[in-house]
Amino acid sequence: MRSDAAQVPLTARRNGPLAGRIRVPGDKSISIRALILGALTVGETKVSGLLEGEDVLNTAKALQALGAHMTRTGERAWSIRGTGVGGFAEPRAPLDFGNSGTGCRLTLGAVAGCPITAIFDGDASLRTRPMRRFLDPLQRIGARAVQSTDGRLPLTLKGARDPLPIVFEPPVPSAQLKSAILLAGLSAPGETVVIEAEATRDHTEKLLCHFGAQVRIETTVKGGRRIALTGQPELEPRPVAVPADPSSAAFPLIAALLVPGSDVILEGVMMNPSRTGLLTTLLDMGASIERVDIRNEGGEEVADLRVRAGPLRGVEVPAARAPSMIDEYPVLAAAAAFAEGTTRMRGLKELRVKESDRLAATADLLRVNGVAVEIEGDDLIVHGNGRAPGGGTVTTHMDHRIAMSAIVLGLGSERPVQIDDGTFIATSFPGFVDLMRGLGADLS
Ligand code: S3P
Repeated sequence: MRSDAAQVPLTARRNGPLAGRIRVPGDKSISIRALILGALTVGETKVSGLLEGEDVLNTAKALQALGAHMTRTGERAWSIRGTGVGGFAEPRAPLDFGNSGTGCRLTLGAVAGCPITAIFDGDASLRTRPMRRFLDPLQRIGARAVQSTDGRLPLTLKGARDPLPIVFEPPVPSAQLKSAILLAGLSAPGETVVIEAEATRDHTEKLLCHFGAQVRIETTVKGGRRIALTGQPELEPRPVAVPADPSSAAFPLIAALLVPGSDVILEGVMMNPSRTGLLTTLLDMGASIERVDIRNEGGEEVADLRVRAGPLRGVEVPAARAPSMIDEYPVLAAAAAFAEGTTRMRGLKELRVKESDRLAATADLLRVNGVAVEIEGDDLIVHGNGRAPGGGTVTTHMDHRIAMSAIVLGLGSERPVQIDDGTFIATSFPGFVDLMRGLGADLS
């Protein structure tokens, strides 16, 4: 599928126990939001612990093309001077978000509230992903896609001259969709309201409050959330400290559970409850994961996680848990292969529209490595028997999480597992290979 650069295959082999103490890079969701909110703020926003992965760097370039100043001041440290709410300048060239759905969709929202026209584009994977669900509500706010094929990239967005506040109920649980509407609503007078049937990650709301916007959040009678943002605030610059990404931590964490004798500590992992579904599931499966030194960093609860290898059992993962672990299913499926018994993961429809069709790609990655797996409707069913044969080559479809999940499987399986291309790992987890090697993983 990849056409723009050479593929770099990677092979994972079973080796001795994994051991050591590591910190995974900063959270991707918070990194992207910190840049966007900094770009919408007048004055200097300082970000520390920023994820310097391709998705974030592509978003930074796009924001720069929209008139914000982004300066790297040190390792993972960035300074942003923004344009203020509604103040983006018209970019002279198309904005290229590479592989980043989050960067692209959230920026779509921010641009929708500005009286400018911008072309949004991305790589072959991002060009297949749905944008219609964003364009429809943004049109109600007053923005218009003047050119797009079938609601996909590349598309030209004409932002609203006089943005309107709307009340919006997302048809699917999506933090990206919620965030795009709230970011567009920043430019509208009055109150923009998003009513989520199921709560999704709340980083946009938290950061909006952090930058001084007025956001009222209520729990609905059905257990969802009503988020009301007062438009046209003067955002005030505030420092942002980005905690370690729980979605990235998931890879060394599950590798440590699977490789016999392993004992690994993952430092400062964000414990925001909207992101801890994987932890709940692994504890259900009997995993040995201890939360040590729970503390607050940059407005989020974080903990060091001590992970020790041990037997796992198959479990049912309810559909209601999906929003809190939406990016972790491929690597959970790898863990399920090593569990005793069947793991059924329910309600995974949204996985079909990620960086790849992740439902199909996850099933394929297990199947080519001799693991019994089925897809039933929107459910993924893995029949574990405590071991995985391995020996397969996995097609990663430009999807970083499929690539890393296959590597994790290979670290525990009887024969090596190869992936066709490891380059996309850098979209979310630069340094993954070196960090894993540092724990004792055999990757070549
Ligand atoms: C994200 C939301 C999720 C997730 C993505 C990051 C975010 O996507 O899969 O990796 O930062 O808001 P959806 O909103 O499409 O579920």
